Amino acid sequence: MKILFATSEAHPLIKTGGLADVSGSLPNALKKLKHQVRMVLPAYHDVMEKLPDKSYRQVASFKIGGCGKQLDVRILQLKAGAFDSIEVPVWLVDIPALFGRAGNPYLAEDGTDWWDNGERFGVFSKVITELAMDRCNLKWAADVVHLNDWQTGLAAGLLSVEIHRPKTIFTIHNMAYPGNFPKQLFDGLGLPNNLWSMHGVEFWGHFSMLKAGVAYADWITTVSPTYARQICTYEYAYGFEGILQERAEQGRLVGILNGIDEHVWNPHSDPLIPYRYSEKKGRTSAKRKNKAELLKTFCALHPDQSLPDENHFDEWLDRPLIGFVGRLVAQKGIDLVLSVLPEILATTDANFAFIGSGDKHFEAELCRIARDFPKRVWCHIGYSEELAHLVEAGTDMFLMPSRFEPCGLNQMYSLAYGTPPIVHHTGGLADTVVNANEDALKSGEATGFVFYEPSRHALLSTIQHALYLFTNKKRRWQQIQKQGMLQTFDWKESAKQYESLYKEIV
Ligand code: ADP
Ligand code: GLC
Repeated sequence: MKILFATSEAHPLIKTGGLADVSGSLPNALKKLKHQVRMVLPAYHDVMEKLPDKSYRQVASFKIGGCGKQLDVRILQLKAGAFDSIEVPVWLVDIPALFGRAGNPYLAEDGTDWWDNGERFGVFSKVITELAMDRCNLKWAADVVHLNDWQTGLAAGLLSVEIHRPKTIFTIHNMAYPGNFPKQLFDGLGLPNNLWSMHGVEFWGHFSMLKAGVAYADWITTVSPTYARQICTYEYAYGFEGILQERAEQGRLVGILNGIDEHVWNPHSDPLIPYRYSEKKGRTSAKRKNKAELLKTFCALHPDQSLPDENHFDEWLDRPLIGFVGRLVAQKGIDLVLSVLPEILATTDANFAFIGSGDKHFEAELCRIARDFPKRVWCHIGYSEELAHLVEAGTDMFLMPSRFEPCGLNQMYSLAYGTPPIVHHTGGLADTVVNANEDALKSGEATGFVFYEPSRHALLSTIQHALYLFTNKKRRWQQIQKQGMLQTFDWKESAKQYESLYKEIV
């Protein structure tokens, strides 16, 4: 089957979150199942900067309608092997007026959305449609177009009005980003009038690109079974519950759990960690040495943060270190973390290592706590792939108290790295972590710590429980670590589930 995989980010070309990890690995897994996969992605300035010389060639050029103007488009094809980890051909959509600016793919420097995101991704979706319909002289017509999140959702609408069209799958990675814009954008882009209806792209008088995907795709998927159920409810759907319930009743909405890329996130072979280990070999001592390296790396990056006293370093390494990596936004429950930190620091010997960026007030609050508790709290505001791997490998437990979480990848990385996660029972977190309650501890199935309501009290007592086991029940702790490391979350299974959907609709 010919599958066009359309996405707004893909590791290692450009990444803001888990979508990039998925786009960097699911297409490879589909290729292993013998499908012909092409990926299409905007040629952002930052992607072009990363490309080695002569690693791409122009394969098509044409004009396409933006808002009140015609835009020049070039399709650039990445040569095979340009990036080892991407095993499928990549088409980069080069429209300098829309994507030729440095920085985050979605946000301007001040942290607000680029003013023209609607036009940028509306036009991107038009180009996806042209490629899928083989109207760019590339002699490659897709059987299935796999769209991801609102940035590509409009393509499902545009394809729905074509006569001989490929089938479409729309994967929702996060309902919190609906891609809603004023009606003027719909008019400005010159879109087919019949898409404008309450059963189409119209959403309370606005133009919603997420709704285009939900309304018109042949299948809608989301990234975990629990989140697939949750988004049919008022609490999680932000007003889209009606249409999602409808699609679910038609049997067209399904949850498929994300996998993790075992070439990138594997403590046995990870080039970003100094001491490698596996479930069987060297876990305890390697994690301890990685812990020391982690702190040294933090302090090298931030001269204002200091190492524990040299004379007591060994003793210090025995104390629990709790890690956090993620976007500093309300979704990730960072406010809950901040609310329990003072008490944990005052009443236990636990220490913390944070990496993240996001809302400025969360960033400022974390920095303040790191200043107030030197040698107990380390914090890196910013994005660092290397530190993220080190935190997984060098901490003892991983905090992920998300208020909602479509799938979540970090908890799976933590399980793989023998770093039991502490999670809220929601979305993909509920589907991947087995709570260390009495029964699960006895049966040996426990892999982490789960709390059932997103409250300060629930998080606090769960962290306390984890700390108790870490300090007082070493054998049990090791059993939880091992059980987590034995879980397999590779892409094989999930890719097969996508494959059966493709087969069903084609
Ligand atoms: P989301 O996509 O909602 O942000 P996920 O858990 O699915 O959450 O994926 C987040 C991905 O982004 C993970 O690979 C995580 O390691 C990475 N990540 C998030 N913030 C940072 C950061 N500040 N530095 C490095 N990696 C980060
Ligand atoms: C989104 C979600 C996250 C998910 C990721 C990849 O960013 O917030 O839960 O893991 O997409 O699907």
